[in-house]
Amino acid sequence: MRSYATRMATPADLPDREERAAALEAAGYNLFDLDADRVFVDLLTDSGTGTMSDAQWAALHRGDESYAGSSSFRRLREAVDDVMGFDRVVPAHQGRGAENVLYGTLVAEGDRVLNNTHFDTTRAHVAANGGEAVDCPVPAARDPDADDPFKGNFDVEAGRARVEEVGAENVPVVVLTITNNSAAGQPVSVANTREVAAFADDIDATFVIDACRFAENAHFVAEREAEFADASAAEVAREQLGYADALVMSAKKDGLSNVGGFVAVDDGLDDLLERVKQRTILYEGFPTYGGLAGRDLEAMAVGLREAVEDDYLAHRVEQVATLGAELAAAGLPIYEPIGGHAVYVDAGAALDHISTAAFPGQALACELYLEGGVRTVELGSFAFPETKRPEYVRLAVPRRTYHREHFEHVGETATAVVERADELAGFEIVDEPPMRELRHFSADLRPLDA
Ligand code: F0G
Repeated sequence: MRSYATRMATPADLPDREERAAALEAAGYNLFDLDADRVFVDLLTDSGTGTMSDAQWAALHRGDESYAGSSSFRRLREAVDDVMGFDRVVPAHQGRGAENVLYGTLVAEGDRVLNNTHFDTTRAHVAANGGEAVDCPVPAARDPDADDPFKGNFDVEAGRARVEEVGAENVPVVVLTITNNSAAGQPVSVANTREVAAFADDIDATFVIDACRFAENAHFVAEREAEFADASAAEVAREQLGYADALVMSAKKDGLSNVGGFVAVDDGLDDLLERVKQRTILYEGFPTYGGLAGRDLEAMAVGLREAVEDDYLAHRVEQVATLGAELAAAGLPIYEPIGGHAVYVDAGAALDHISTAAFPGQALACELYLEGGVRTVELGSFAFPETKRPEYVRLAVPRRTYHREHFEHVGETATAVVERADELAGFEIVDEPPMRELRHFSADLRPLDA
């Protein structure tokens, strides 16, 4: 059994109710606009918000800040090779930097990119290169109650049907996102990974794995896929990632780092590697540092190795499950099974008197802050205008950061919110940016009268 002792204490104080109400109003009822020190438990994201280990802090001091060929880069490359099985690694400042580099080399005007489900930044990079992002989730992904161990899987039949329609020559890339963040952090099986690899091969497409949460995914595979019952997460990870032609990674998740990412390319794809390096020089930096300090590369190298330790992963997934149990006990409808990094609440069901047009997810998210200083994120019709999505609110758990008392506080907060759910009103937007797809980061809202 693993636990973590905290040796750097960051005080967090719960502002009183009046202060919370004033902070919320000043933020235009947009939780991205809150000062973080007004937040008591911050579940906005698991990205870059975790706690580094003492070994990572020690490694920072070894940072080699040479412009080219640093020993820190070498240690990162060795870690990616050992943990993920790829020794051709090009760092980037974070996941979307790596996406810009990779998709900019692979996607052209009119192309279609198939993915189990595109994360927002992935979708945006496909679109920025003139492509169309096509999601191919399995049907169970859309059912928050379906009891299926791998609801993150890619629906290969749906993918083949799409290729029939548009022609294989227009589908240069097939992506598998593990875990599937936009499908409630659900895992993808190795069996499905093999099928997707074979499908990509059939249509001569590059097979990319978005590996942000590869270690959490490997933990679920070891737990749920019979073939891997005796395997460690480290063994599963190497097996699963080994099917990809290229990886795109945000080390802010399963790199256990506060910043960083990379592209990794399989042996033999020399042309792709060369193009990735060229684009990295344009947008990120020389390909041995990719926009990062040498010390960041060190933190990533150590973090990647820690992320596949079975004891770490058991602790990690247990924390998310504890939060889920608290929310379910409070009476909130949650997506099940609970995913690897977050709990997703169906605010459309919890607040069914608030119409989609009045953003029930935002109403729930604002109320959780008002009641208990808990910050979450709406991932429904406010974040994704014009798409038919469930009205999810995501509560993401930063790695190695919170303790049971925090999850209990969130549970008590949710209980109080559920008790007066009927009284909650929806919201309207008063000001939104020109790019509506990005509005949840900056739009201002106003509560509608109850
Ligand atoms: N791919 C996936 C599946 C992600 O979840 C993210 C980020 C990225 C790519 C981009 O990585 O943030 O390092 O640029 N997800 C965060 C989240 C922001 O809150 O889910 P990044």
